[in-house]
Amino acid sequence: MKAAAIGQFLLLIMACSAVTCSSADANDETDLLSLLDFKRSITLDPQQALASWNHSAHFCSWEGILCTTTSPRRVASIRLERRGLVGQISPSLGNLTFLRNLSLATNRFTGDIPASLGHLLQLQYLFLSNNTLQGTIPSFTNCSSLRVLWLHRNRLVGPFPTELPPGLRQLQISVNDLAGTIPASLSNITTLDAISCADNHLEGSVPDEFARVQNLQQLYLGANQLSGRFPRAIMNLSALTDLSLALNQFSGDVPPDLGSKLRNLMLLELPVNFFQGQIPPSLTNTSNLHYIEISRNSFSGMVPSKIGRLNKLEMLNLEYNQLQAESKRDWEFLDSLANCTELIDFSMTGNLLKGHVPASVGNLTNQLQYIYFAENQLSGEFPPGIVNLHNLYTVSLAVNQFSGVLPEWLGSLKHLQKVSLGSNFFSGTIPSSFSNLTQLAELNLESNRLVRKIPPSFGNLPILKVLNISNNNLYGSIPKELFRIPTIVQISFYVNNLDGMIHPDIGNARQLTYLQLSSNNLSGEIPTTLGNCESLEGIEFDHNAFSGSIPVSLGNIRTLKVLNLSHNNLTGSIPASIGNLQLLEQLDLSFNKLKECAGGGQISTASDVYSFGVVLLEIFIRRRPTDEMFKDGMSIAKFAEINFPENVLQIVDPQLLEELDLSKETPVAIKEGGAQILQSVFSIGLCCTKTSPSKRISMQEVAAKLHGIRDAYLKRKLKDQLSNLFSEI
Ligand SMILES: *[C@@H]1O[C@H](CO)[C@@H](O)[C@H](O)[C@H]1NC(C)=O
Ligand SMILES: *[C@@H]1O[C@H](CO)[C@@H](O)[C@H](O)[C@H]1NC(C)=O
Ligand SMILES: *[C@@H]1O[C@H](CO)[C@@H](O)[C@H](O)[C@H]1NC(C)=O
Ligand SMILES: *[C@@H]1O[C@H](CO)[C@@H](O)[C@H](O)[C@H]1NC(C)=O
Ligand SMILES: *[C@@H]1O[C@H](CO)[C@@H](O)[C@H](O)[C@H]1NC(C)=O
Ligand SMILES: *[C@@H]1O[C@H](CO)[C@@H](O)[C@H](O)[C@H]1NC(C)=O
Ligand SMILES: *[C@@H]1O[C@H](CO)[C@@H](O)[C@H](O)[C@H]1NC(C)=O
Ligand SMILES: *[C@@H]1O[C@H](CO)[C@@H](O)[C@H](O)[C@H]1NC(C)=O
Ligand SMILES: *[C@@H]1O[C@H](CO)[C@@H](O)[C@H](O)[C@H]1NC(C)=O
Ligand SMILES: *[C@@H]1O[C@H](CO)[C@@H](O)[C@H](O)[C@H]1NC(C)=O
Ligand SMILES: *[C@@H]1O[C@H](CO)[C@@H](O)[C@H](O)[C@H]1NC(C)=O
Ligand SMILES: *[C@@H]1O[C@H](CO)[C@@H](O)[C@H](O)[C@H]1NC(C)=O
Repeated sequence: MKAAAIGQFLLLIMACSAVTCSSADANDETDLLSLLDFKRSITLDPQQALASWNHSAHFCSWEGILCTTTSPRRVASIRLERRGLVGQISPSLGNLTFLRNLSLATNRFTGDIPASLGHLLQLQYLFLSNNTLQGTIPSFTNCSSLRVLWLHRNRLVGPFPTELPPGLRQLQISVNDLAGTIPASLSNITTLDAISCADNHLEGSVPDEFARVQNLQQLYLGANQLSGRFPRAIMNLSALTDLSLALNQFSGDVPPDLGSKLRNLMLLELPVNFFQGQIPPSLTNTSNLHYIEISRNSFSGMVPSKIGRLNKLEMLNLEYNQLQAESKRDWEFLDSLANCTELIDFSMTGNLLKGHVPASVGNLTNQLQYIYFAENQLSGEFPPGIVNLHNLYTVSLAVNQFSGVLPEWLGSLKHLQKVSLGSNFFSGTIPSSFSNLTQLAELNLESNRLVRKIPPSFGNLPILKVLNISNNNLYGSIPKELFRIPTIVQISFYVNNLDGMIHPDIGNARQLTYLQLSSNNLSGEIPTTLGNCESLEGIEFDHNAFSGSIPVSLGNIRTLKVLNLSHNNLTGSIPASIGNLQLLEQLDLSFNKLKECAGGGQISTASDVYSFGVVLLEIFIRRRPTDEMFKDGMSIAKFAEINFPENVLQIVDPQLLEELDLSKETPVAIKEGGAQILQSVFSIGLCCTKTSPSKRISMQEVAAKLHGIRDAYLKRKLKDQLSNLFSEI
């Protein structure tokens, strides 16, 4: 070929490709416009994910876009997950006819899923999960290539989608607000291998037609309102690996042949239903099972004795059923569990286990991290086998009848984070070795028979959060070291014989939310530093011998909900600062030596206080100041004063007495208690309406006192009225 001819030939080729190019331009244009529309409907792009979406480059090089490799280059994939994008999904995306993947998961898209997405014939993967999309699920019947549809974690409503393409493999629509039943027609999509519709409002059961969906491996139906017996169709799904019916209203027996039919099962979740009867022994045939969670049902009888055949088992949660074990034979399951060398988490809490825990508990794998035997009828000494379980994070034996001393060796299980031994008959001292448990976050020894002192070495526990040793026979003072644990959140020492003072270092416990020291012999002043504990929600110091005045600093604890200082020897007046505690729900300062009517309001004016007092008295006497009895110099305040305290019951509105159960029929004791309450209220009213403004109490004190009365004693109806008054303070 001559050079010129070659040149012409090349030109021809170039011309041809130019033609293809220009015809491609028209299609390009559609894609370009669609993408620009999409960008326009995004109102916030905090990570600048779409900064590159501009005319300086072809859209195929924009962030998140992949195009087809062959010319004309069309948008094949949009991946923009986890970008914090806010806005709506533009319907124009429905024009991207070559789109195969669309992922906008984990953003903040709102509005509907555009129906136009249903026109994308090439679409294979659609991920719109974890946004705040609303409306109903549009039809995808025509998206014949669609394999994976993820719409979970949105706010979608309407029925379970029925317009789905044949060929779909994964349908993920959990955590939405879908209602109605699971449609039988879904079983026509025999290609499905995973369905999750957990956490919606679905009713009914699984249609029998589902037996056809032979490829199904994962079925998650948890947290709906499904009911009826164990769905028959499931027994035909022999490929099933994951089955969750958790948190529904299923009832009846679990089919005895479950394990023989579903031989591939790896995960079985049935908790919080009404299943009853035996745990099917056939389950021990499903050798891949590694997760069994069937807590909170009514399973009874024995745990299958050959459970140890499940040698991949990692989790076995049988909590809150009526499973029994007493004789050696009943306990065989525990011996057999020694075979489960992968076991991490094992709970038998809340069943009918009796007697001693067999020694074979010590043959369980030392991989075990969690062991729970709480709320049974177990007795005997602390199970000695547990000493072998070196990797335990949690041991719970609470609410049983264990006795004897707490073993010193517990301090050698150095990974322990949570030790829960409350409500037993453990005696002796708290082992000092506990202070070696440097990972310990929670120690509960309440309601036992422990004696002597709280070991000061507890102060060495660097991450302790909760310490409850209430209701024992401990004495001595509270170790000051404890207050030096920066992580401490809750300290409960109520009902012991502790004495001495509270160390001012308590003020360093900045994360403390609850401090319960009721019913001890603690004395001295309440440390002012307590006001530094800015997260405190509860202070219960009642029934001690605290003296001095109530620290003004307590008014700094904005989070405080409960303040009980009753039954102490406190003096002085109630600090006005207590009135700043907006969240206070319960205040009890009774049975102290506090001054009743202290003067000196600062925030509210004395005249506000006066008006408030009048309103308060009005509520109880149920007469308007304009009532004709209040003329000729008689005011509601004077009227109250004259009748206070003896005749309070006579001047209170009879209807109100009725509502408060203080009418004639009620027993004398209640009546007297009620009279006292009314007298307290009246005394506040009278303190507010003193003729001399300087003698009136402050609004903060009023608030503090009324909070106490309202919450400690009064009936609902009156509470509401007082609540309304509070909004006026
Ligand atoms: C346009 O996108 C390019 C990257 O493709 C980027 O470098 C440039 O800053 C963008 N221009 C604007 C105005 O955002
Ligand atoms: C894209 O789709 C929208 C709505 O789905 C339609 O109104 C518009 O005309 C389409 N644009 C192009 C360029 O095809
Ligand atoms: C679509 O997504 C799937 C799964 O993430 C992936 O395997 C496939 O390669 C993607 N296809 C395109 C065109 O991006
Ligand atoms: C869902 O989105 C939130 C933020 O919007 C994120 O924190 C969370 O990890 C996401 N969840 C999943 C399962 O992706
Ligand atoms: C699906 O395709 C058919 C035939 O083209 C059409 O009649 C129907 O309206 C389409 N359905 C949807 C939901 O787009
Ligand atoms: C399943 O599909 C068949 C046709 O293939 C149809 O006759 C039947 O009604 C469908 N079943 C359901 C429950 O939709
Ligand atoms: C379900 O299993 C039963 C017994 O194994 C069998 O008789 C029945 O045909 C199966 N049903 C379907 C739809 O496969
Ligand atoms: C386990 O399966 C075998 C047959 O594979 C069967 O003989 C045996 O009865 C099954 N065991 C239980 C407890 O179902
Ligand atoms: C323990 O496992 C072995 C082999 O893995 C098996 O032979 C034995 O029967 C199992 N024991 C129990 C009690 O399941
Ligand atoms: C613990 O296992 C060993 C063998 O592994 C066995 O000899 C012993 O009897 C078992 N102990 C208990 C209490 O079951
Ligand atoms: C606790 O630790 C101390 C020193 O680290 C050690 O002497 C003691 O034996 C330990 N106690 C226990 C029960 O492990
Ligand atoms: C209160 O203090 C007095 C002495 O001031 C003392 O006699 C009394 O026992 C104390 N009461 C309490 C409950 O501590």
